[in-house]
Amino acid sequence: MSGSEERGTSDLVVHTKKIEIKVKGSGQECPHRTSAAAQGHPRPGSRGSFAPQDGRGRGRLVPACILPKPQSRYTTTAMTTSGESSHNPDLRVSVAGIELKNPIIAASGTFGYGVEFEDVVHLDKLGGFVVKGLSREPMIGNPPPRLWETAAGMLNAIGLQNIGAAAFLEEKLPKLRQIRNIVVLANIFGYTREDYERTIEILNDGEGIAAYELNVSCPNTSEGGLQFGCDPRSLDEVVTTAKRVARRPLIVKLSPNVTSIAQMAHIAQEAGADAISLINTFVAMAIDADTRKPRIANVTAGLSGPAIKPIALRMVYDAAHAVNIPVIGMGGISTAADVAEFMLAGASAVQIGTASYWDPCATEKIVDELQRWCEDRGVSRLADLVGGMILE
Ligand SMILES: Cc1cc2nc3c(=O)[nH]c(=O)nc-3n(C[C@H](O)[C@H](O)[C@H](O)COP(=O)(O)O)c2cc1C
Repeated sequence: MSGSEERGTSDLVVHTKKIEIKVKGSGQECPHRTSAAAQGHPRPGSRGSFAPQDGRGRGRLVPACILPKPQSRYTTTAMTTSGESSHNPDLRVSVAGIELKNPIIAASGTFGYGVEFEDVVHLDKLGGFVVKGLSREPMIGNPPPRLWETAAGMLNAIGLQNIGAAAFLEEKLPKLRQIRNIVVLANIFGYTREDYERTIEILNDGEGIAAYELNVSCPNTSEGGLQFGCDPRSLDEVVTTAKRVARRPLIVKLSPNVTSIAQMAHIAQEAGADAISLINTFVAMAIDADTRKPRIANVTAGLSGPAIKPIALRMVYDAAHAVNIPVIGMGGISTAADVAEFMLAGASAVQIGTASYWDPCATEKIVDELQRWCEDRGVSRLADLVGGMILE
């Protein structure tokens, strides 16, 4: 993208090599490929399913972001009171005391503040959604280019751009409160323990937040830049601090950039986490061999999408064996079968991130697909899958 010519408005930015669309006002950019894969040439290692399974993504120049919401307003009630019939499977799960109508949660940073997706996704059909990471003050994020498509994945260095916790309460939360039957999770980050503390204190005053998700993947500036989530002592301290002030359940989102995810999961639990979620993105990079410049202005970026799924699955499996609190799994999930894999590895619920960049309706479609997946296999209660991988 570097050196490409921009033509468009602030909400619609068209690059010569790639199309980036911002879902209105969300700060979210959607890359849509116009290159090799779009012309029917899958890249090495790329997965067809990264584009929507029905193939509509292939070669589509009209971004899915601006496609209308699916017509059928689905009743979320895959639930029955008995929940016994495989023709009406019970998709309900429970995480950190929060009841979710299904395990599908839109991941932080890929779903704006939720309100921006209201015209595209039936928010009340999802188990829940996590809003873009919030800090005590607004942040403008990193300079562009900030996104780059890789084989079966995506690099991002958005730089945690957000409107700040107070503006979220004032501008976004009242709108979300008007939508019934939704579960809103607030993702939080900071550069010092005081940042986390203050952000949580601000959010404690907001009505309509079900839980906090603590992103510990930021460099701890008071400790010289090491990420909170990569250092056992810092992780312990930040979770202990957050738990002390949080008036809602605390989900600690772990970084995969560690030697032992089991150790970090255990530390989070012992410091008071009500649940853990994993994984955040892998530190990665890409270089344009012709220009010899980095693809991302920040040089390094976070890798997400199907490319990371097998590692994410292994980490969820390891973490789930190290704790007795619920685990929320994520990393490259784009189909109902992916969801089942993460649940079998030990996840009680899952988050969908990069798949929403490819198809903004992905979360909702996966809920439908999951229902059919259960029906086809006679699974009457989805929660029974959790930790159910058969070893012999
Ligand atoms: C563009 C983008 C922005 C993200 N922003 C955040 C964020 O603000 N806070 C956070 O905890 N994770 C953030 N993430 C990480 C995702 O929530 C998720 O953990 C990760 O992408 C792996 O899931 P996926 O492969 O389904 O995308 C972001 C990811 C992407 C792609």
